[in-house]
Amino acid sequence: MKTIIEPFRVKMVEPIRMTTRAERAAILEAAHYNLFMVRAEDVIIDLLTDSGTSAMSAAQWARLMEGDESYAGARSYYRFRDTVRALTGYHHVIPTHQGRAAERILFSVAVKPGDVVPNNTHFDTTRANVEAAGGRALDLPCSEADDLTSDQHFKGNVDLVALERCLEENRGHVPMVMLTVTNNSIGGQPVSLANIRAAHELTRAHGVPLYLDAARFAENAYLIKQHEPGQGDREVRDIAREIFSLAEGCTVSAKKDGLVNMGGFVATTDDELATPMRNLLILTEGFPTYGGMAGRDLEALAQGLDEVLDEDYLRYRIATVRYVVDRLVARGIPVLRPPGGHAVYLDARAFLPHVAPTQFPAQALACALYLEGGIRGVEVGAVMFGGVDPATGEEREVPRDLLRLALPRRVYTQSHMDYVVEVIETLWAERKRVSGLRITWQAPTLRHFTARFAVA
Ligand code: F0G
Repeated sequence: MKTIIEPFRVKMVEPIRMTTRAERAAILEAAHYNLFMVRAEDVIIDLLTDSGTSAMSAAQWARLMEGDESYAGARSYYRFRDTVRALTGYHHVIPTHQGRAAERILFSVAVKPGDVVPNNTHFDTTRANVEAAGGRALDLPCSEADDLTSDQHFKGNVDLVALERCLEENRGHVPMVMLTVTNNSIGGQPVSLANIRAAHELTRAHGVPLYLDAARFAENAYLIKQHEPGQGDREVRDIAREIFSLAEGCTVSAKKDGLVNMGGFVATTDDELATPMRNLLILTEGFPTYGGMAGRDLEALAQGLDEVLDEDYLRYRIATVRYVVDRLVARGIPVLRPPGGHAVYLDARAFLPHVAPTQFPAQALACALYLEGGIRGVEVGAVMFGGVDPATGEEREVPRDLLRLALPRRVYTQSHMDYVVEVIETLWAERKRVSGLRITWQAPTLRHFTARFAVA
């Protein structure tokens, strides 16, 4: 059958408030053309992020009631720990309130000033936490990632030649190599098992531990099953276990493939790192058997980590992303290819060639999509990664301007996706009417969250 059906039934509904175009025009103006400033109630389809926006299952809600809220030694912690151990093989499992807390704890303990941390591509909080520990965060994506339109698989890979060079040039100053699975900043593209195995061999030969940023480990494992030669007959759970077995530890934002609204953890095989990490956890998150989470949340997360590897779920999840991308490609609409794990990325420079890169085409496209159909995406381009160069007073150039439409897990249906496609198609036909933007106010760091814009 060609129709993609959600492998679940709906038991509880959350109403969506419909808005008119005139209402949305006023809302956009009041929000200074920054969708982070728009109330969620004023959004029809919210594709700002797939992080913390999942729908929990009946089984997860049931497990909330089983939460043991004891301060020390709670049963819920041991159930969570055993689930993570069975999946990853890592002995030390340290719960945190979200991914960036796990990153901060790992890097504070493992990274010294002057160290270099290579990664296929750091997510922005990962980069910021390496830098906060005094390290240099180095992105080493494979060269295939530069081509937005080729259908080559595994554009999330790390460049192994560059990684080897980095390890040789910085001997003694690389506390770990990180791999982000899937590679969010490069379009949710997966890393191949062959690439992870090779990174494992290379880091082992250099005596450097390999860590995973495993926020979307299940989507990465499924894409390996789908596209990597020789992997098609394996269970996704088995592939996921192998991925973890090739590294010494991981940081996880459980708000993605953990299928929960808040939570995370850092896990490792390294006894020497585990003790100072737990001490730091006690200082800033909580006692080691709850860390940054309530007992009930540990229960829901343990259940989520199991459910996310259900192959019917993953097939539907990945098919939905592909469905939207394929329909846009068929219309000639510029979209990053091939479809990745969690989001659809529109190429805003190609969508709006009449908007100069200095006029924030992806931000302009985000606003236009909201105006047209009440859809909220997120700019991943000059607003997020650019900024004013203090030396020249000019905007720094960035390689691309993308609009990410991230799909929350188990939240929207196929007809919601048909609506998204229809809105994008309508906007495509009217694209010449979309104007660029200029910044009227910005914060000194992480400006994308609060910047104000006006029509250029
Ligand atoms: N690593 C990756 C690959 C991420 O995508 C994120 C968050 C984090 C770490 C940080 O986790 O938010 O739990 O502290 N990504 C979200 C997004 C915010 O929209 O892509 P966190």
